[in-house]
Amino acid sequence: MTRAVIVGSGSEIAPTRVTNAQMARIMDTSDEWIKERSGVEERHFATPDVATSDLGVAAAAKALEAAGVAREEVDLVVFATMTPDHYFPGCGTILQHKLGLRSVPCFDIRQQCSGFLYGLQLADAHVRAGLAKTVLLVGAEVHIGFMPWTRENYAYALGESEVAPTKEEWDWNSRFRHLVVLFGDAGSAVVLKAAQDGERGVLDHELHGAGADYEKLYVPGTGFKHRPYTDPEQFRRGDHIPVMDGRHVFKMATTSMVEVARSVMTKNHVAPGDLRLVLMHQANKRINEYCAKALGLREEQVPHNIHKYGNTTAATIPLLWDECARDGRLRPGDLVLMVAFGAGMTWGASLVRA
Ligand code: ACO
Repeated sequence: MTRAVIVGSGSEIAPTRVTNAQMARIMDTSDEWIKERSGVEERHFATPDVATSDLGVAAAAKALEAAGVAREEVDLVVFATMTPDHYFPGCGTILQHKLGLRSVPCFDIRQQCSGFLYGLQLADAHVRAGLAKTVLLVGAEVHIGFMPWTRENYAYALGESEVAPTKEEWDWNSRFRHLVVLFGDAGSAVVLKAAQDGERGVLDHELHGAGADYEKLYVPGTGFKHRPYTDPEQFRRGDHIPVMDGRHVFKMATTSMVEVARSVMTKNHVAPGDLRLVLMHQANKRINEYCAKALGLREEQVPHNIHKYGNTTAATIPLLWDECARDGRLRPGDLVLMVAFGAGMTWGASLVRA
């Protein structure tokens, strides 16, 4: 049987580190609230000259190097992001060009925090069907583009300006405080290679999508539902910034992630103790603590990085994989479950032998 094996990974964290205390300089929030309610302690944001594709390219180059795979070998690109460089084209072909890959097929995945798992299933299906042998699967995000603050406010947060926000700017930034404190910018990538008859590789997936509640987490403006699709009025209303009903999403995430993880484990006759690691999407540490308890997992089975990077959306799961592979928490042969929930609503789990 042909399986897709993850043979290398790499990540690129955006350079500007922003602490919770710095966020609290430009909106009504506090380090205590953010830490306690979400687990985020700091995040990194991209500089103005860096786009999502750039973080993806840097991560992909490191993943290819770690895998010992030459650029000419790549025969499929899958790029997951909810913050593409442009409305179109997607980031897949941009990465293909910047990395100097052959003119291989390039897919773009739009499944937000579940994007990496949707991409993994697509990559795996191509490998199993014999359509690809070496796949570059990338997740990257530059969320800073939808942050509500002005450039001057941001400079003040970083201690690079003496000009504090006006009352109007403070109130505007604070309106989005439940959302903006959660996200950070990063890129991460894995290389998958077709392998015959081994134990290693992607073993199973279960993905779900259900749109009934999509307005609980979405971007109301800058879409082709509007004519023209973007205009100054939308920006004045803040419709380019995601709307999120945090409590609703929290409940859906905990229920769905536990259900889908249990389902994949049951189908594959895997007990919690058989798993070396469970890589959960990092939207809120409390979501993952709840899921870990419900699934009967030990603390060391569930790595976190939300405290350092916040929610890096499609980059999160490969970033966790890469960190664990590099520091020895994850070794070839280990059984790993990946679980995610995101806007759409979309969710899923994948079982992989590293
Ligand atoms: N600082 C200080 N106070 C805040 C902040 C903040 N940053 N944000 C909200 N508050 C206040 C609220 O105004 C509210 O005040 P009130 O009681 O006076 O009205 C109070 O804190 C409680 O607000 P809640 O929204 O109920 O807070 P909650 O504990 O639910 O935490 C959070 C909010 C962190 C957003 C949480 O609901 C959450 O993580 N939800 C899920 C997010 C998620 O999983 N997203 C999916 C992935 S993202 C993607 O796919 C793009």
